Amino acid sequence: MKKISIGAEDRVFVLTGAGISAESGLPTFRAADGLWAGSRVEDVCTPEAWQRNPWRVWEFYSGRRADGAKAQPNPAHVTLAKLEAQLGDRFFLCTQNVDDLHERAGSSRLVHMHGELSRSRCERECGRPPVEDHAIYRSLSEVGLCPCGGRLRPHIVFFGEIPLEMERIEAEIAKATLMLVVGTSGSVYPAAGFVHWARQAGARTVYVGPEPPLNASAFTHVVEGKAGEVMPGLFQVE
Ligand code: APR
Repeated sequence: MKKISIGAEDRVFVLTGAGISAESGLPTFRAADGLWAGSRVEDVCTPEAWQRNPWRVWEFYSGRRADGAKAQPNPAHVTLAKLEAQLGDRFFLCTQNVDDLHERAGSSRLVHMHGELSRSRCERECGRPPVEDHAIYRSLSEVGLCPCGGRLRPHIVFFGEIPLEMERIEAEIAKATLMLVVGTSGSVYPAAGFVHWARQAGARTVYVGPEPPLNASAFTHVVEGKAGEVMPGLFQVE
């Protein structure tokens, strides 16, 4: 397998999706037996679903918390943490994943653009920051209230809401000379468009996953394989 060289002048922007956590035992969204086959997006991951039936939403995300607590980082998460340790501020990780496997592998220069399972925030957007919350709820009556009286909701970006940290993400992409995208189907925007921004800025663009994503034509290089198998030997840092 041809190695991806990372030179002294390179700045690396990484985008990860559900596929990087697949080998940790967490299901992806769009596989035939994935999360969106078992639950309808419209019932669990939209502002309307939250208004209509907040318990259904919490039930779904409590299940994700339970799954996440059982999972361990795999060699792909570890590879990215090692790259960060080697490259320092020339490395930046943006994940669409709401699990904490990147942090548990040792990554710290990262943003969770679709939110984090381990936090909750006020449904009223009252201005208070998200709070740490690992609870696996069994009924809506267990879910706490914000000091302002609003109910706590998962700190998750629902479909139709604006992803988090977009200014920082755009600034990091503009500086990147190498974009590495791992385990995402390229079907959800704006993340699916990042590769186009990177290409416009002149970066090399590499995809890693077992099948080409929907936006495969925008990549200069596609490495077909499971992330946990191919990532550990993929990079040569000069
Ligand atoms: N290694 C790498 N990639 C893998 C692996 C693996 N072992 N197993 C599966 N994949 C790939 C699949 O080929 C697929 O392209 O992971 C991708 C998962 O795609 P999706 O299920 O669509 O997940 P993702 O792209 O992360 O979804 C984006 O959609 O529902 C929302 O907010 C949710 O953040 C999520 C967003």
